Amino acid sequence: MELNNAWVVITGASRGIGATIAKAFAQKGATLILIARSKEGLEKTCHQVENLGGKAHAIPFDLEKISQIENLVEKIYKLTPRVDVLINNAGLEKYCFYTNYQCKDILSILSVNLIAPMELTRLLLPGMLNQRKGHIINISSVAGKLAEIYNTLYDTSKGGMELWTDALRQELYKTNVKVSSINPGGVTDAGMIYNIGEKYPILLGSCTSQDVADAVINCTSRYKSRVFVNNIPIKPLVIINVLFPRLLDAISRWIGLTKVNRKKVEKRLREDILKSTKENSLN
Ligand SMILES: NC(=O)c1ccc[n+]([C@@H]2O[C@H](COP(=O)([O-])OP(=O)(O)OC[C@H]3O[C@@H](n4cnc5c(N)ncnc54)[C@H](OP(=O)(O)O)[C@@H]3O)[C@@H](O)[C@H]2O)c1
Repeated sequence: MELNNAWVVITGASRGIGATIAKAFAQKGATLILIARSKEGLEKTCHQVENLGGKAHAIPFDLEKISQIENLVEKIYKLTPRVDVLINNAGLEKYCFYTNYQCKDILSILSVNLIAPMELTRLLLPGMLNQRKGHIINISSVAGKLAEIYNTLYDTSKGGMELWTDALRQELYKTNVKVSSINPGGVTDAGMIYNIGEKYPILLGSCTSQDVADAVINCTSRYKSRVFVNNIPIKPLVIINVLFPRLLDAISRWIGLTKVNRKKVEKRLREDILKSTKENSLN
């Protein structure tokens, strides 16, 4: 797709990978509509886009509020008569032992990571079908294909995103509306894993946020249905997982993923305790 003068909607663009994707589209001459909760974060990305000579509009919105996504779409259509590319990027994770999750964690992670992309796409797709042109790009994860211990809700949301992407792609065959999933491994320079500060095992590979943005841009010019973004090949592990799931479990333990993720859970628990001690001392 020609990106110069294209209208691109990006969720989760207030920081992390979404901000890098926004800058990559700006450099191609696209006009951006950026969505996230943080007004300040969105303004920062808008400034970065403008510094690159691009144009961006910010719509602060909480994607957990699924029933209000219709209002979000109204706001989008007040800015533009058409959307050419939708990047479903917003997401969150929570490393946690399964029994320690709260019901609200299940609802918020599945809402933001899976249900919001589905609903936003449902509402923007008719416009793309009418104009006979469009591309829906879902920022999934390697975790959508290879479950990651102690991140069960995230894995589930990304696994759902994978099947939804596949089914939608089949349904939209011959409509000229394309659907892709981009599946990054651990991102080393920005985003949710970088912010936690515990590195992934080297044997699982990694990538940068710019690698992810490049994969997204390339996918719009040379259509690909799924792109794994990782510096080591991940497809053999995906095949092992389908054929011999318990062998993959053993490999995950052997390369040290269980150990690293347990550290992430323990770190988060310590931070939660510190936070609640501070709150109690203030009350
Ligand atoms: N980082 C990695 O290693 C990695 C690997 C594979 C896949 N991914 C995927 O890449 C995508 C971006 O992740 P990231 O690493 O850039 O994470 P991040 O730095 O934590 O950024 C997440 C983005 O999602 C937005 N968001 C979260 N909750 C939201 C809500 N309720 N409503 C609206 N926006 C919300 C955040 O904005 P606000 O907080 O301002 O709302 C932020 O802009 C995610 O889908 C993630 O699953 C990341």
